[in-house]
Amino acid sequence: MSSEKRGMHGIWASRWTFVLAAVGSAVGLGNIWKFPYITGEYGGGAFVLVYLLCIFSVGIPVMMAEVLLGRKARMSPINTMHQLTRTYKAPKFFAGIGWIGAVAGFFILSFYSVIAGWTVYYSLEMMTGYFVGIEAEQAGETFGALLSDPWVLMVFHSIFMILVGAVIARGVHRGLESSLRMLMPALFVMLLILLGYSLTLPGFAQGFDFLFHFEPEKLGTEAILVALGHSFFTLSLGMGAIMAYGAYMPADSPLGKTIVTVGVMDTLVALAAGLVIFPIVFSNGLEPGAGPGLMFQTLPIAFGSLPGGVFIGTIFFVLVLIAAWSSAISLAEPAVAWAVEKGFSRVRATVFVCLLAWVLGLGTVLSFNHWSDKQFFVSVTGSSETSEQVYEDFLLYADVAELKTDLGETGGLQYNVAGKTFFDVLDFLTTNIMLPLGGVLISLFVGWFMTRRAVADEARFRNPQLFRTWRFMIRVVSPLAVLFVFYQGLS
Ligand code: PHE
Repeated sequence: MSSEKRGMHGIWASRWTFVLAAVGSAVGLGNIWKFPYITGEYGGGAFVLVYLLCIFSVGIPVMMAEVLLGRKARMSPINTMHQLTRTYKAPKFFAGIGWIGAVAGFFILSFYSVIAGWTVYYSLEMMTGYFVGIEAEQAGETFGALLSDPWVLMVFHSIFMILVGAVIARGVHRGLESSLRMLMPALFVMLLILLGYSLTLPGFAQGFDFLFHFEPEKLGTEAILVALGHSFFTLSLGMGAIMAYGAYMPADSPLGKTIVTVGVMDTLVALAAGLVIFPIVFSNGLEPGAGPGLMFQTLPIAFGSLPGGVFIGTIFFVLVLIAAWSSAISLAEPAVAWAVEKGFSRVRATVFVCLLAWVLGLGTVLSFNHWSDKQFFVSVTGSSETSEQVYEDFLLYADVAELKTDLGETGGLQYNVAGKTFFDVLDFLTTNIMLPLGGVLISLFVGWFMTRRAVADEARFRNPQLFRTWRFMIRVVSPLAVLFVFYQGLS
């Protein structure tokens, strides 16, 4: 036994296992589903540039701070933050970081599992050759039919949740470590095959151009808000997933190099996913701004008409499934580790967390069908023929179908009603509020409340200049960036 301080959950076999696990957590639906569609919605290159800036100036520094905290205390995020808040005499609310995180992880897991369920469904449909020769209209209908059937959605949501629970229940070594050792290399090989394929497509240059051609006039504050929120989401920051994994990291691994490796890998996978998806979209004369349906509506049409499409399409959806799986594991780990510390067995803790997230996920399932009109934060604007805005209202909750019928009778005005479904609310609350908030609190804690000495000892930077730069980033740059974005988002 080494004299190294270890927690009750175990330590990764090596630094590389940590990298594998952290990349597994970071690379997920965020990279392959969300990144391409928001890039499409916000116009391509300009958005990508802001996203890259956020990753390198805010995301990676915050990630180092988060891992540092976990490794320092070697407990679940909730107990880690309790202990460190006491040790460094920080205001009590910092202890809440662990709680915000566990709740956020739980919220994200609930909807993540539903979307990941779609990838299970699409992997199977691809394999059977269902999409061969499919027309745009039919592909849209297939996706629509899936979303409108709560039972089918529930079945696939359940399958995915069982896959996740099965790995977590077996613990850090036998569950997480041994699965990730197989899953992650498979993921990279598949991604390379797809990239090689996309290089041969006629639309490759156009796809490349769409991703990297910078047009500053396309950039609005909303895009900046989305880019920052997404950089937290894609790096799994601000909710304790990375803190929990940090708690199992060997003490002598250098923090800086290791985390930069994770951040760069995550970014490369997102860009590679873009370089696979957009050339396919353009090669088929389709539109990049299709929203959340981009991967499920646009791509199947393309796969259906390409040579070798069944094979490539199946690989694609299985890849997304694996990526989502390894991320979902890390979403549950903070809550499970905490329950284990409370005295539950690992299996019980897993069943408890997964079951609760599964139930909450039913809300997301319903928000695509029965509850699709039940919306929150509904803004109503009405304008007359002369296009002047003459009516404006905001409702915390409304049934938008009823609202539209009621408004229809007030005649003379054109109404625009926009709100958020249950799923949209969870997504917004976690990605745009809870994760950045958790991230800022983590930065402030490490930057201002832990002693410089303690931080330096734990971080083990060889180069003092790099250490100073990193500390400045978490003390000043990341808090200001997040505050600025919150301020913009609320005003
Ligand atoms: N990073 C994951 C993705 O990109 C999602 C995630 C967020 C996982 C937060 C863990 C914690 O899909």
